[in-house]
Amino acid sequence: MMLLSGLPSFDRRAPHYESHAALQREVAVWLAEWLPEKIAAPALELGAGTGLFTRHLAARTHRLAACDIAPRMVAIGRATLPAVAWSVADAGHPPGPPGYQSVFSCSLMQWVPDPLAAFRAWHRLAAPGARMVSGWFIQGTLDGFYAVCPDAVPFRWRTGDEWIELLHESGWRTVRSETGVFTRHHASAAAMLREMHNAGTVVPCRLGAGHLRRVLRRYDESNRGHDGVPTTFACLRVEAVRS
Ligand SMILES: C[S@@+](CC[C@H](N)C(=O)[O-])C[C@H]1O[C@@H](n2cnc3c(N)ncnc32)[C@H](O)[C@@H]1O
Repeated sequence: MMLLSGLPSFDRRAPHYESHAALQREVAVWLAEWLPEKIAAPALELGAGTGLFTRHLAARTHRLAACDIAPRMVAIGRATLPAVAWSVADAGHPPGPPGYQSVFSCSLMQWVPDPLAAFRAWHRLAAPGARMVSGWFIQGTLDGFYAVCPDAVPFRWRTGDEWIELLHESGWRTVRSETGVFTRHHASAAAMLREMHNAGTVVPCRLGAGHLRRVLRRYDESNRGHDGVPTTFACLRVEAVRS
């Protein structure tokens, strides 16, 4: 039985990511609403995955470096968008050279173990006045599900205010920020977990089969509506300037 816990397995799931990433695709479109028509170059994207958000960036600049920690995600991104300079890199140790005018990430930061160190590393590589547009999942994500299954909480989700504080601490001045709530509907909570698992955002974790079945049944019974069983995801989008 698998449940939300531990670290994600993006690399292993890379070939299946896009066919199960409806939520991440929706978030990428939402975040792209805050992109300028023309992106100041050179530009850097962290945690680019297979390129769902990179597509929006590549349409607005010709000098884009995209990186991700998962080699197989990068391989797919490179094959899909060969004009982008792809590399394998941890968000905490991004590729240089310094002087980026624009920095981006989409659906990444909730996975980064030391986000303050990552924001500081981006700050070191960004030119003074460089712009960051980033979006990621925050507290409020899967709240209803965690309420019936607290054991499934993978880490302490930060609030939007806590994230903004981290940005400021690392030298990024927030120009604007907004929280969006995304609701997905599935036939059952089990189907929701399967989708997340297939997208790589869940790792298998042994949990008593009976316990899990009971939790999922309880969630389905108390949440099922006309469109199926809803789950909600809270996402923060931020535009910031490097001070
Ligand atoms: C949910 S996917 C989002 C991918 C892409 N940005 C999108 O919008 O579809 C999260 C990505 O972050 C990458 N990732 C996780 N931790 C990372 C880290 N510490 N450094 C760089 N990439 C990381 C994963 O490999 C995965 O490709």
